[in-house]
Amino acid sequence: MMKTLHLTNTQSDIETASAILREGGLVAMPTETVYGLAANALDGEAVRRIFEAKGRPMDNPLIVHVADFSDIKRLRLVSEIPEKAVKLAKAFWPGPLTIIMPKGNVIPDEVSAGLSTVAIRIPSHPDAQKLLKTSGLALAAPSANTSGKPSPTTAQHVIDDMEGRIEAVIDGGSCSVGVESTVITLATDMPRILRPGLITREEIEAVIGAIEVDHAVLHQLENNEKASSPGMKYKHYAPRTRVVLLRGSDERYITYMNRLYARDPHIAALCYDEDKPQLDMPCITIGGMEDEKAQAQALFDALRAVDDLDDVNTVYAHCPKATGVGMALYNRLIRAAAFEVIDLPEKRIIGLTGQTGAGKSEAARLLGACGLPVISADEAARRAVEDSEVKAMLCAAFGDVLLPDGNLNRQLVAKIAFSTPENTETLNHITHPKISEIMLAQAKECESDTVIFDASQLFEAHQDVFCHRIIGVLADPAIRRERIMQRDGLNREEAELRMSAQLSEEFFLTHCDDILYNNGSADAFQNAVRDYKERLVRG
Ligand code: TXA
Ligand code: MG
Repeated sequence: MMKTLHLTNTQSDIETASAILREGGLVAMPTETVYGLAANALDGEAVRRIFEAKGRPMDNPLIVHVADFSDIKRLRLVSEIPEKAVKLAKAFWPGPLTIIMPKGNVIPDEVSAGLSTVAIRIPSHPDAQKLLKTSGLALAAPSANTSGKPSPTTAQHVIDDMEGRIEAVIDGGSCSVGVESTVITLATDMPRILRPGLITREEIEAVIGAIEVDHAVLHQLENNEKASSPGMKYKHYAPRTRVVLLRGSDERYITYMNRLYARDPHIAALCYDEDKPQLDMPCITIGGMEDEKAQAQALFDALRAVDDLDDVNTVYAHCPKATGVGMALYNRLIRAAAFEVIDLPEKRIIGLTGQTGAGKSEAARLLGACGLPVISADEAARRAVEDSEVKAMLCAAFGDVLLPDGNLNRQLVAKIAFSTPENTETLNHITHPKISEIMLAQAKECESDTVIFDASQLFEAHQDVFCHRIIGVLADPAIRRERIMQRDGLNREEAELRMSAQLSEEFFLTHCDDILYNNGSADAFQNAVRDYKERLVRG
């Protein structure tokens, strides 16, 4: 381990840092975007050490930073300055934009990772400017984090990752932009954004006309797809804690989160300021919903803070819109989430559940008769076990449970699955996600804005999280027992056994938004359901 100097931005400290750089050392410097880990860009040996300190794959090229546009020519960093580069430079430099151009011969292979191009940026941060001018060097500088982790936006973030691995860090306070520069390549026929940042597509198009956004900015690369920017193929910005993106309306995000938290206390939210008062679980906020610049500034610090939460397994992020500066946020977050995204339904889903014998099915029938589409979990369950993947998983868990014609032997599966609680759980674990998928797809197809999920196992199957409201149909135990005995031809003991396997009345009372009691006559219940439907439609 070497000793890492903690420097300030005084002129004498900047001179110390410059001397380190001239001798081939590494210095972390503040920029307006994120902290960069700088080395002399024209010294291949020094640059190689950046990759070692970060644990960065050698095929991921670096950005070369200079103080002034004239340095690009003077140091022969590029073989040609495209006309559009001049326009972009006038509009956005110094600032958070990186331009990829054909490289000059002086650029070592370590910087360009063997490509024929080089990425150039002129940072606006006064300390970066001072360091570039005082050292007189072009500085290769990737973000100063351990490869794969969130980029550093404070000197402390750098120290957390790099202490003992680099010669010095200059503390210049918090970075004002907070996400890395917009990277645009001018080496393609049509200029193309390879990484979105504070400078948006629209702002760039206003200066040089139409550009495109690389597919990998918003989508996961297929295994055989080649990355235009090598950095896009690596895991990025990821806390140790699992991050999942929830994409949907603000309202659905809140209901999803609170319902999930009621079941799983080991979750937290990565969300906007406005969400926090509505959420029950621990929250890390990144700023006001409309203030994308504040969100960008706070994002990486928030992603680092995720790992400091006690007893949290998964953080669910409120997904930003992928336009304007939001594109930069979305691009970082979806990578932090390793592309794990849950699409929240657009429909108003009303969950209908309740205890066996209480009258849930009757309520579903009545609501259906009032014109609301009813999506049946039982029906979806029948379809789920026709799915070839589900069948394969059931065979893997329970042995050969197929009939000669390839269909599932339902009786056999039921016999095995209900023989032990573990087997029941295994069955549910395999089928529930597919059942939910089928129901959500059906909901999407409906014309109506409101749909009913008729599901006795709504909570067990975790479909509650998608529901706008949840109705629980309840009745007194003695009444339910009678109904079950009559309906299913069971004796008293059998009926009670079935009832005892269910969630308690207390559970429904605390987890449902609305309760419909069915202790009286059929007519009374019919009226109660109709009333409820009227209130539902009125909102
Ligand atoms: O804001 C920033 O750009 C920060 C500060 C320190 O300036 N730097 C930064 O560097 O984010 P880094 O190395 O973490 O990201 C550079 C990105 C990588 O995704 C890399 O693959 C891409 O730019 N890149 C660099 N040179 C390239 C080239 N010649 N062709 C395509 N992509 C390139
Ligand atoms: Mg980086």
